[in-house]
Amino acid sequence: MAISLAATPPMGWNSWNMFGSQINEAAIRETADAIAALGLRELGYNYVVIDDCWSHKGGRDSNGDLIADPEKFPHGIKALADYVHERGLKLGIYSDAADRTCAGYPGSYGFEEQDAQLWAGWGIDFLKYDYCNAPTDQATALERYASMGAALRKTGRECLFSLCEWGGRSPHLWGRAVGGHMWRVTGDIFDSWVSIWVAVDQPYYGVGIDVALDVAADLAPYGGPGGWNDLDMLVVGLKGKGHIAGAGLSWLEYQTHMSLWCMASLMIGCDLRTLDQESAALLMNLEVIAVNQDTLGIPARRVKQAGHCEVWRKPLADGSVAVALINRGSSGNDVVVRASEIGLLDRPKRVRNLWTQHDCHDVAGELTQRVQPHETILLKLTQP
Ligand code: GLA
Repeated sequence: MAISLAATPPMGWNSWNMFGSQINEAAIRETADAIAALGLRELGYNYVVIDDCWSHKGGRDSNGDLIADPEKFPHGIKALADYVHERGLKLGIYSDAADRTCAGYPGSYGFEEQDAQLWAGWGIDFLKYDYCNAPTDQATALERYASMGAALRKTGRECLFSLCEWGGRSPHLWGRAVGGHMWRVTGDIFDSWVSIWVAVDQPYYGVGIDVALDVAADLAPYGGPGGWNDLDMLVVGLKGKGHIAGAGLSWLEYQTHMSLWCMASLMIGCDLRTLDQESAALLMNLEVIAVNQDTLGIPARRVKQAGHCEVWRKPLADGSVAVALINRGSSGNDVVVRASEIGLLDRPKRVRNLWTQHDCHDVAGELTQRVQPHETILLKLTQP
């Protein structure tokens, strides 16, 4: 059966990393305009997702319907969906499988069908469904996500279902079965190379890029067409700004972050209205995005670890392979890759550096590249 939703990893933008609770319809409209004006839409970034804090904190209306916060969204969500659709984009919304969301707004537990119908009527195309304030066992999580998955299907409207229980209950094993198209595999990413553990009542919070790489490596085999591991929204472009904490990354670290997230979903998290050129270059490299959106849909696997350096390999639909050479250490290092380690033969192959978009020297059996601390070199190797 052809997969209609998430055949390749979902791409878009989400409000949380930058705006937190400070969202409103003007910011969402301006973001949709920026996505269109910058050419991000043509690259595939097509979901605009409103995260937590969009609804009336006081509760539902007399019919039990969720209400958009009248101050933040005076024209309502339907009008916003129309605006986003007119620009060739899709609108996402957020809720939680309990009485309250993570930020304390009304959740959807017990209102699954009613909320799904309401969102379908508004023209919602994507639901991020969080898990704060819900029982911690796996069976309950499965039940609650299945219930929302069924409610979404019942509306008859196509809606991408994004599960967000942070990986604690192994959603990679059951996400597809409950109707999910992507599932978070870590806690909240922060704009930091190392993890910042913050004392809050959430199981995982303040995950650094370095830690997320290991989770991605372990779970790579579970992602594929129709269901993807979600490493959380990108921090590219934040540079220490925005709602989530973190000192920001160096350019090489942002490049490593983008290189490895290309193996999963790409949801931008920065303020696109003021996107700087350096970040735009990372988010908008056509050849890098092509690796992410490759129709074979096989996430990259880590095939080699040598000291602090790693080699990741992602086979592509045209028979070539994308290879990431990562240096997680603190001094520059030569990374050696042998053809057999990445599933190629000892024959000459064309090597293209995807970040610089330049062909490098042809190699036969072995390739050596100098990789700077926290840098990732992304190559495409084609064997004629
Ligand atoms: C959780 C999620 C975040 C974000 C916030 C909103 O922490 O993991 O991605 O949605 O809730 O409150």
